[in-house]
Amino acid sequence: MKNILRIDSSLFQENGVSSQLADELISELGKRASDFNVVTRSLSHDRVPHIDADWINAHSTAEDQRDEGQRNKVAYSRELINEVQNADALVIGAPMYNFSVPSVLKAWFDHITQAGVTFTYTSEGPHGLLTGKTAYVITTRGGQHKDKPTDTQIPFIKTILNFIGINDVHVIYAEGLNMGDGARDQGLADARQSINQLLAV
Ligand SMILES: Cc1cc2nc3c(=O)[nH]c(=O)nc-3n(C[C@H](O)[C@H](O)[C@H](O)COP(=O)(O)O)c2cc1C
Repeated sequence: MKNILRIDSSLFQENGVSSQLADELISELGKRASDFNVVTRSLSHDRVPHIDADWINAHSTAEDQRDEGQRNKVAYSRELINEVQNADALVIGAPMYNFSVPSVLKAWFDHITQAGVTFTYTSEGPHGLLTGKTAYVITTRGGQHKDKPTDTQIPFIKTILNFIGINDVHVIYAEGLNMGDGARDQGLADARQSINQLLAV
């Protein structure tokens, strides 16, 4: 069984370009696996709340001392984490908004990055606990930012995925989507070529 966790973060939900490329990638992954299961989190549809002081307090309170609201907060985050723990591969649709990730995607990372659960500190430094997984990150951009200082998105995503133990990270770039029809067609063609190349190996 190949378990895929799909994370969509476009504010256009299933109509987002990143969501549509995620459809294509997952369809191709499905052709290559005999037994295949996809769990989807559409972060703009089922909005992930931002963490706050109440959330920190809930997690800092001993399990048997938590009130109902605190138990619910902890349970919600654990549900998000369980989805990652159960996945063999993640497909993350990540449009670039204001040079970075959509705020809903940042909120999701805030929930799943938890000391003692998804990472731990050792005498050698931090150690990610979500090992043995592959992540496919589909980034869609109106402009062109790959490997430039204006791309604060992919360095962040790689850093945080590595931090929680996911080191096999593949990025599919669809760039220039708002730069006219020619650039858009080229950006989409490049993304599709990346998908084919990635899955050919
Ligand atoms: C709120 C917002 C902010 C954006 N910021 C950027 C940006 O900083 N750089 C860029 O190249 N494109 C930017 N864009 C364009 C999107 O990256 C582009 O439209 C992309 O296709 C969106 O992907 P999606 O359709 O999956 O949401 C922005 C779009 C929106 C809606």
